[in-house]
Amino acid sequence: MATNGQGPAPLELQIVVGSTRPGRASDLFVPWLVDRAERHGRFAVRLLDLRDWDLPMFAEPTESLVAGAFTTPTVARWNETLATGDAYLFVFPEYNHSVPGVLKNAVDHALGPRVRNKPAGFVGYSGGPIGGARAVEHMVGITVEREMAPLRNAVLLGQVGRGFDAEGLPVDPMTDHALAILLDDLAWWGEALRRARAEGELPPPRQRPVQSPPGPLVRAPQASTGGGAQAGG
Ligand SMILES: Cc1cc2nc3c(=O)[nH]c(=O)nc-3n(C[C@H](O)[C@H](O)[C@H](O)COP(=O)(O)O)c2cc1C
Repeated sequence: MATNGQGPAPLELQIVVGSTRPGRASDLFVPWLVDRAERHGRFAVRLLDLRDWDLPMFAEPTESLVAGAFTTPTVARWNETLATGDAYLFVFPEYNHSVPGVLKNAVDHALGPRVRNKPAGFVGYSGGPIGGARAVEHMVGITVEREMAPLRNAVLLGQVGRGFDAEGLPVDPMTDHALAILLDDLAWWGEALRRARAEGELPPPRQRPVQSPPGPLVRAPQASTGGGAQAGG
């Protein structure tokens, strides 16, 4: 593991802002997120605002995927950038009970092993009381399919328009507490998985050879003594 002589090197935490609409609510609180992540002490924070990326709608041909080459420089740069992350914090609203298309498209573009075996945390938000919970649940499935390690503890910001004061701080102190828990989890999993990756990773499933089955059971099943449920009665 690389060190700076005073302990392990900081983890690169990539904060991915997954909404690009003019007037998006995340502008209210992303400075707070970045501040808390930078002051946590274990992270070198990198903000990836999808507004800055101009990714095409996913259309990579199979040949590009197999060769690990991409059709546009933006997609190649997106993948090079994701590869340097040790942990990801996705920030996104709920759109129609799911994640915004722009975020799904960005994750679809995370190709090959670049995000594999790295933790993913979630900050969901919405204008109503749900706090983006349904979108967060979808994001768990999306990120696990990309072989990231999605974390249980999330930050859910309901009624996001009323959740932050004029200084950009959360009105409810439990919001800061929820973020502190998530950042601690990202640091713990980030360190653990960085160490594990350095020690060696299992190949992706499709690269693992099919082994012949190990044969008959070592302990043969016992014949039933008739103690099971009886019909009728
Ligand atoms: C297209 C669209 C779909 C939405 N769908 C939901 C929804 O399913 N559930 C919900 O709680 N809020 C929903 N909302 C409200 C948003 O979560 C809320 O307006 C949020 O601030 C939007 O994020 P943004 O400001 O970053 O675009 C939706 C808003 C939009 C624009």
